[in-house]
Parts: sequence; C-alpha cells; structure tokens
Amino acid sequence: MRIVHTLSELRQALAPAQHPAFVPTMGNLHAGHIALITQAQPLGDCTVASIFVNRLQFLPHEDFDSYPRTWECDCAQLQAAGCDVLFAPREHDLYPEPQAVKVHADPALADILEGHFRPGFFTGVSTVVMKLFMAVFAGKAQGTAVFGKKDYQQLMVIRQMVRQFALPITIESGETRRAADGLALSSRNGYLSEAERAEALHLSLTLRALGRDALAAANALEAHLPALEAQAMASLSQRGWQPDYLTVRRRHDLQTPKAGDALVVLGAARLGSTRLIDNFEI
Ligand code: PAF
Repeated sequence: MRIVHTLSELRQALAPAQHPAFVPTMGNLHAGHIALITQAQPLGDCTVASIFVNRLQFLPHEDFDSYPRTWECDCAQLQAAGCDVLFAPREHDLYPEPQAVKVHADPALADILEGHFRPGFFTGVSTVVMKLFMAVFAGKAQGTAVFGKKDYQQLMVIRQMVRQFALPITIESGETRRAADGLALSSRNGYLSEAERAEALHLSLTLRALGRDALAAANALEAHLPALEAQAMASLSQRGWQPDYLTVRRRHDLQTPKAGDALVVLGAARLGSTRLIDNFEI
C-alpha cells in the first residue's frame, strides 16, 4: 500500500488508474470501514482510502481534538485489506488557506435531523467530500465512492451533491456492521464506559421497536407516527438517555412519510457524554 500526504503525491500514485474506487474515512478504522474497502475493491482498478479528521464538520464544543487517531493500527488494517493507496493529508494539504468557498447542501435535506442538531455539519462534510473527490477523481473519466449506511443522511446528501453537480462518480452504499448485541460499529463507541456499552444496544432496540410499530400502523401512518415517535423518545429517556430524535422517514429524501413510501427509522441520542446514531431501513 502506498501512503501519500499531498495532492501531487496522490495524483502521481493514481496516474495509472482509470477508475479509482474510493472510501473516505476519518480513521479509527473498525470492521465497518474495512467492509467498505472490501466492497470497493472489485468496483475499480485501484482502491483508495483517505484518513482525514475534518475540522470543518465539527462544532466548536464537539470532539475534534479528542477524536480517536489510531494511525498505526489503521494503516495495518488497510494494508491487510488490500487497499492500494492511502491518502492521509495534513490539514495544510487539504486546507492550504481558509476554506471560503463551501458546498452548502440542500437545506430541505441537510438542515433536518443531524443537520438540525449539528448546524453546519453537512456543509463541512459536503465541502471536504467535494475536495477529496476532486483530489482522487480529477482527470478520471469515471470513479466509484463507497459510503456506509450507518451515516444514512450523509449518504443521501452526498448522492444529491453528485447528482446535482453531475459528477462522473458512482456512489455505492455499504450495510452497517454491528456488534453481536446489535450495536452499530462506530468510532465513537470507544468513548463508552463499560456500563454505557452494555446500555448502548438499547438505541438499536428502540429503533427496531419503533420500526415495527410504524409498519403495524402503515395504513394510517401519518396519523399515528407522532405518538409512536414520542413513545420511543420517552422509553429511551426513561433509561437515562437524552434522545435528539427517533423518527420514521421516507428513504429517498428523509421527509415525513406517507402510506406506501419506503421507510427508514433513524435516531440520535446521547448516553452520558457520547452521542450515538443508528438507523434501519424497514
Ligand atoms: O463519514 C465520515 O467518516 C466523514 O463524514 C467523511 C465522509 C470521511 C467526511 O469527513
């Protein structure tokens, strides 16, 4: 695996590639990330991963400084997974000057759910992903990028950006990987104490229960949904969580669903000082 830090090193490393397959990450890799690398491999002629903790997508009070950085372990996992090129820019490689030009995602999609509770988050994500796409795919006729469904709204925002800018990039999605008890794998799970880790599976359990209740009420979903969501929020709160949202949305644009829509149930909640997110297509 070739490790590169600058844009010019990356372009040189990718010169022979016609169709790179790319997995952007912020590092602290786990089995979910490695599954995306494995998924990307047959989709291109060169598998590229990036590791970059993107300051632009963190609010001032969030965990940018403490976000886990596990360079040696990440490199070993990528190498073992057969990744060809690792792009690990330093901050000045990607942001050589303050980033005044930004990508503002569609507010209808980006200012709800995660974007409501983390204002500016999707501007930060869209901007860095556009920069990473330009770095990896510039001069290529076609490319593929793989994103996990764990960050469901992020996947929708990136799909819309690629579609609206007509970027020659195919976006593929990878299923969420889970621990044996059902907790979605996440870099932030490492923040949980032993007791919190045991409790953490209740986010996925509560979302699954909400999903089942929504399907049972499918014929009159709009009428029943507010009460079902409120019940799910209350049941997680009673366990000591601080839920931001637990909600059922239609899949393609994450708006309030109508009967017959394909559905996804999504949630974000804080357990102690750790904020976890999860979702299920139902
Ligand atoms: O999902 C992530 O790890 C990040 O949001 C991404 C896509 C690498 C952009 O920083």
